Amino acid sequence: LPKDIFPGRKNSAGIDLADPLVRDPLLKRLHNLRDRQWEASPTFKAEIPGEIAPITAPFDHGLRIGTRRDASAEEVDMAITKAEAIQPGWNALGGEKRAALLEAAADEFEAHTDEILSLCQLEAGKTIVDSVLELREAVDFLRYYATEARRLFAEPTPLPGPTGEENYLKLAGRGVFATISPWNFPLAIFIGPAAAALAAGNTVVAKPAEQTPLIAALAVKLCHDAGIPEEVFQLLPGAGEVGQLITSDTRIAGVSFTGSTQTAHAINRSLAARDGSIATLIAETGGQNAMIVDSTALPEQVTRDVIASAFQSAGQRCSAQRVLYIQEDVYDEMVTMIRGAFQALVVGDPTEFATDVGPVIDHDAQAALERHVARSATIGRTIWRADDDPAFARGSFVLPTIIEIEGIGHLQRENFGPVLHIAKFKNKDLEKVVDDINALGYGLTCGLHSRVEATRRLVESKIKVGNFYVNRNQIGAVVESQPFGGEGLSGTGPKAGGPHYVARFATERVVTVDT
Ligand code: NAD
Ligand code: ALA
Repeated sequence: LPKDIFPGRKNSAGIDLADPLVRDPLLKRLHNLRDRQWEASPTFKAEIPGEIAPITAPFDHGLRIGTRRDASAEEVDMAITKAEAIQPGWNALGGEKRAALLEAAADEFEAHTDEILSLCQLEAGKTIVDSVLELREAVDFLRYYATEARRLFAEPTPLPGPTGEENYLKLAGRGVFATISPWNFPLAIFIGPAAAALAAGNTVVAKPAEQTPLIAALAVKLCHDAGIPEEVFQLLPGAGEVGQLITSDTRIAGVSFTGSTQTAHAINRSLAARDGSIATLIAETGGQNAMIVDSTALPEQVTRDVIASAFQSAGQRCSAQRVLYIQEDVYDEMVTMIRGAFQALVVGDPTEFATDVGPVIDHDAQAALERHVARSATIGRTIWRADDDPAFARGSFVLPTIIEIEGIGHLQRENFGPVLHIAKFKNKDLEKVVDDINALGYGLTCGLHSRVEATRRLVESKIKVGNFYVNRNQIGAVVESQPFGGEGLSGTGPKAGGPHYVARFATERVVTVDT
């Protein structure tokens, strides 16, 4: 490709953690932020406050880092009223000015790198590597959607017509958008959908996950500091009940949801039960993601990519690998290598630089994963687990686990953590393997390690997933380069970080003029 085929915007360069002159002072500054107390509360407050809940670190529930004050029904109503009143003005501002404000927000995020990284570690239990990736992705979303606001909202698109008639199409904000986000990307997936909705001329009421409201509150404050009016982008902290209150309000024109498939169904039902306008739903949900490895794959590369895909971020990525299919001819060799790398994983406090795998988000997540592992153990499969440590009792840790299985029929539900299932297949059964993966109904990511072109073409043509990765790991989609999102039980699309995303937040209007 010619070098200038993608001119212009560049993704964030991140932080060079390999350089001790950068890393060591950063880790020291983050350590000094450990005692700071944070608060998340609704942007506009009513006199009678909602419930107050403490937020603790997932790796040490004795470490309190702040409080969440939930939005009351009155505050939800007030927020939507304000957002609705200001939306025409925000829409009229135009793509260029909205873009400039989103870019100013990205600058604010970068200027507050330490606070953001600290909250990623303390509130979400992310390692420093994952925390830096989180900040990068958030900043990339803001800047990419700003570019998209300029591209899509600059001029109407001329349309053909007979002589004497002028036709054109223009985009406009739909109204008030609700964004409901998960805890596993508490900054990037909190700000990404909100930035897209804002870029398209909507105002936004944002409900972060109940586990991670503090980093969301900081993000909203930084956007306000950058010049985005408070009424335009509002925070409504709380648990699922607050989300339910928001989505049942008929003034909400669209909902962008990222989270579990079960909650997407609940939101769908809530929107369907409303009278009045029909809201747009963009849902990005869970996966049961597989990787297929054949006998031509490079064992060292497979080992590296399996460990990253299954265990980075403690397996708490929607894209993470849950099932590994290995061709039987190389099964024993591959499993031995993977086990070796697995045993070298360092599990522990994510604020320690050496840690590879931190905690899972809370005790509920821990209990659900332990139930799954216990169930697998009772049906007699081989299970390997990382070593335990008494310090893990302070937080919600799940020891990284590998379970050998014969088929994936019983893996109907996503197990959201560091648990990998390994199965053997015969090369003649490759198509059946792909059919079995498709039959689960999810469709988020799939990995393939093979040097055979025909195999790649076969799997690529049959597998029903949004993101298919060949001879690499299957996590960490990059904004604009790998637009991300699934199909089936994994979501509605459009793809986050892709060229069709922002437009889905807008409504289309066609004007016809008889000249
Ligand atoms: P979750 O579904 O439990 O919660 C997500 C959000 O929905 C939270 O803010 C929660 O408070 C809210 N919510 C819960 N019930 C609600 C209701 N009835 N009405 C409105 N809102 C409600 O998911 P989670 O545990 O926070 O996140 C993990 C899940 O997210 C995993 O399934 C993961 O695969 C998925 N995920 C998907 C993507 C993707 O891009 N496809 C990205 C990240 C995470
Ligand atoms: N976009 C995230 C990834 O690809 C979810 O891992």
